[in-house]
Amino acid sequence: MEKNLSVYIETYGCQMNLSDTEIVSRILKNAGYELVERPNSANVILLNTCSVRENAERKIRERLSVLKKYKNNSKPVVVGILGCMAERQRNKILENNSIVDLAVGPDEYRKVPQLIQNALLGEKGIAVRLSRVETYDDIEPLRKEGISAWISIMRGCDKFCSYCVVPFTRGRERSRKLFSIIAEVEKLQNEGFKEITLLGQNVNSYKCPETNSDFADLLKECAIRFPTIRIRFITSHPQDMSDKLIETIANYDNICKYIHLPIQSGSNRILELMNRNYTYEHYLGRIRKIRELMPNCALSTDIIAGFPTETLEDHRLTLRALEEIRFDGAYMFRYSPREHTKAYKLTDDVPEKEKIRRLNEIIDLQNKISKEINLTEHGKIHLVLAEGPSKKDKTYWQGRTDTNKVVIFKPLKSTQVGEVVKVKITNSTSATLFGELVQ
Ligand code: 5AD
Ligand code: SF4
Repeated sequence: MEKNLSVYIETYGCQMNLSDTEIVSRILKNAGYELVERPNSANVILLNTCSVRENAERKIRERLSVLKKYKNNSKPVVVGILGCMAERQRNKILENNSIVDLAVGPDEYRKVPQLIQNALLGEKGIAVRLSRVETYDDIEPLRKEGISAWISIMRGCDKFCSYCVVPFTRGRERSRKLFSIIAEVEKLQNEGFKEITLLGQNVNSYKCPETNSDFADLLKECAIRFPTIRIRFITSHPQDMSDKLIETIANYDNICKYIHLPIQSGSNRILELMNRNYTYEHYLGRIRKIRELMPNCALSTDIIAGFPTETLEDHRLTLRALEEIRFDGAYMFRYSPREHTKAYKLTDDVPEKEKIRRLNEIIDLQNKISKEINLTEHGKIHLVLAEGPSKKDKTYWQGRTDTNKVVIFKPLKSTQVGEVVKVKITNSTSATLFGELVQ
């Protein structure tokens, strides 16, 4: 290999992609590449991409047209697409006058160094085979320094929700071995990390291939072995949110009291068309169980507006669900048809304008609820993990509560990154809390 080749990676989409970028970074570093923070002087530019909605893919196409300028320089620059969009579009992104030299799907990252070498010799390359076993278990992610780390504990998804492209781009579900996850947390603890987030498309269906331990067992094991580490996890599926799991979260102080539990719709007819495998009543039952054992647990969700055949009555049921459950926050999207999925065969019959109108109605209602919930935080004292200067005003710091809310506060001279401080909440918006340090 030529000496000192440098790689710049840009990441789009979910936390899983951020975690995958750390895996690719390690693979490249081991192969002798230098990782750089800017595209300007890089020999290789990689985009780790998302396909979940059309918007995400459009963003990548726009970015590629901006990156074109790096191709016109005198030195050869390799451009590669990694992740879900590479998997979905395959040869298509390499065709015609595309500036893309390589496309690598989520299960073929070990091949990236070789494909870069080939591309430097002028050969375009593609690797998009999905695997039933690849978990990158043996690769230690190359993380930036910090206090908070992601750990992917499983890959793929077997749920096949009818709108979702993930089972096609990330393949079948497979879990890492429990012992290797524990070893990774231990290493992170020794390196000074204070918080870990266990990642998977559906962490609730985690199953250790060696010991058969389930997700609750894994959480318990982490909680007991690492009592000073904050443990988070995303994403959960309402069908697999067992009593055992809820009890485990409730039983350990260092398992954060925040659960992201996508509901998608409040209408049973739409939930069935979405192939979600639960009813609204089942979902509500899970929320009640969570709140019974953990009255202060924060909850967030995902919603899709304008799924095929969604009527005004279905939409009203989603609004009613938001009012009845009162989530702390939500990620809200309008339906985007994805090729290969089951829903793609349904007529996308809610007009775009109407989808946007419904989505805005959902967003307005949720913002109002988040604001009201945050008002009830005023006067309360939270333990906040200090992350460092806030983005807007460096004289203030930001941190997160156990319930995953961002808090802005004025630090003391002695306040350290990674310290858990006590903050009394004095003000808020729908998205942020503001407070003062207390002794
Ligand atoms: N259209 C709109 N939103 C979608 N999501 C997944 N697929 C689609 C789609 N085709 C949303 C779901 C999921 C989140 C990650 O993205 O709400 O929970
Ligand atoms: Fe997609 Fe459903 Fe799997 Fe989530 S659980 S990744 S929405 S198929």
